[in-house]
Amino acid sequence: MKMEINKDIERILFTEKELSTIADNIAGQINTDYKGKELLVVGVLKGSVIFLADIFRRLSLDCRLDFITASSYGSGYESSGRIIIKKDIDTDIKGKHLLLCEDILDTGNTLFYLRQNLIDRGAESVRICALLDKPSRRQKPVTPDYYGAQVPDEFVVGYGLDYDERYRNLPYIGILKPEIYM
Ligand code: XMP
Ligand code: MG
Repeated sequence: MKMEINKDIERILFTEKELSTIADNIAGQINTDYKGKELLVVGVLKGSVIFLADIFRRLSLDCRLDFITASSYGSGYESSGRIIIKKDIDTDIKGKHLLLCEDILDTGNTLFYLRQNLIDRGAESVRICALLDKPSRRQKPVTPDYYGAQVPDEFVVGYGLDYDERYRNLPYIGILKPEIYM
């Protein structure tokens, strides 16, 4: 597909086809692991929405969907340790199995906070599903229970991931040219 924002991408990391295979694999694991259980999938807005839509449609479980928005103090590029919930879930989570769905696990600050917050509010279990994992930058002890791929320490965009709210609509994931954000 020809898109005018393609020119800002240095290199494609995952094609549409590869992302579709990733969604097949992750959804397959979730379907197996939660067989016979009810699941509440909680999407972390906004970055997870495209990935989440692909995963959610592949689930054959009895499941519900909700969303949460977290924000951190500090620059837009990376999260600080201080996280606040800007938009909360609407669902009563006491005794429920939750799957937090996120675009990328980077420092881990956001998901470390959210997971503990949801456990403190009575969730029976909270697992993490992240499309991408950037383990080299981790600051908190958190690993994804389900993930698509590990990525090096470069800024990636597309398929929901943004830079300054742009590029979410790219159907693939690519590395942004450094001159765009420097
Ligand atoms: P932490 O650091 O709390 O943050 O794990 C996760 C959030 O940081 C954003 N993030 C990125 N967004 N390309 C992006 O578009 C990246 O390479 C990247 N690294 C971190 C993202 O919003 C994620 O939810
Ligand atoms: Mg995000």
